[in-house]
Amino acid sequence: KSPLRLGIAGLGTVGAGVVTLLRENAAAIAARAGRPVEVAAVSARDRRRDRGVDLSGVRWHDDALALAADDGVDVVLELIGGAEGTARALVEAALARGRDVVTANKALLAVHGARLARLAGESGAALLFEASVAGGIPAIKLVREGLAADRLLRVGGILNGTCNYILTTMRDTGRDFDDVLAEAQALGYAEADPSVDVDGWDAAHKLAILAGLAFGRPVSFDGVFVEGIRGIQACDQHFAREMGYRIKLLGMARRAGEGGAIEAFMRPCLVAQDSPLAHVDGVFNAVVTEGAFSGPMMIEGRGAGAGPTASAVLADVVDLARGKALQVWGVAPGAPAACAPRSTLRG
Ligand code: HSE
Repeated sequence: KSPLRLGIAGLGTVGAGVVTLLRENAAAIAARAGRPVEVAAVSARDRRRDRGVDLSGVRWHDDALALAADDGVDVVLELIGGAEGTARALVEAALARGRDVVTANKALLAVHGARLARLAGESGAALLFEASVAGGIPAIKLVREGLAADRLLRVGGILNGTCNYILTTMRDTGRDFDDVLAEAQALGYAEADPSVDVDGWDAAHKLAILAGLAFGRPVSFDGVFVEGIRGIQACDQHFAREMGYRIKLLGMARRAGEGGAIEAFMRPCLVAQDSPLAHVDGVFNAVVTEGAFSGPMMIEGRGAGAGPTASAVLADVVDLARGKALQVWGVAPGAPAACAPRSTLRG
């Protein structure tokens, strides 16, 4: 069978991870996809940088948008990041041309997801985004496929690996915030601008995506209450422990009645030490759901880093190759669901 040809935009931690995983696991991926999968073209800011990956025989484009117009590319992987700029332009251009897109870009989806889904629907292209939420955990597949027949009451969890790593390491070692953040950056967990992680926005983007899928309507990201972890000090962790709690950056979204507003928050929370969430440590994330029929559920795994995120990106590629990719979000078209005003979620 002819190979499925990928065009990769962005060769940072995730992009390089995708190339490495594809090279190392090519035979298994081809077997599961039913055809070989190959990198045909790439685009990245600096051609000369050594990324430790073999790109011989791969076409280079200096302009990422050229990937959308490259007829030797079947699927565009958008691994640049950011809600605007090149990432948004590339995804829009590729979808408008009817080209399938796989992205890890949570900011783009949280802010423009409904519009992009509409664009994909109109052109018949697929837009897949498993890697956008919780790294290697199949969070999107859980909510969109595994729980497709249920009525979800709430969805959320620990959704930022960098923050969980910082909170856990500070708690266990007493090291200070900046030092542990630098380590999370070196490990490839943090965003290019780490304030997106530590101020809670990255996790809130992921929560908005999950909530949109869980409740079947786009969620207005502006209404999500967001508070990050900058204010957490060693003494907070100490007192939390004395009282039988752990501090976690935790988010939850729930619907206030059928058709009602969606309430969503992402903030540092006290979690009882005997709760499963209290033991999700380091770079691990946890996705929790509660379905009217399936009941409570939690899945845990690595939420950031090259390997877990690349694994989620390529799982979407395998779905596309199998032809089983869903082209609909399961989110009704129309205006975003109102969120409860942020102020009502304080305190
Ligand atoms: N910076 C993100 C995190 C990467 O730390 O969770 C995965 O989305």
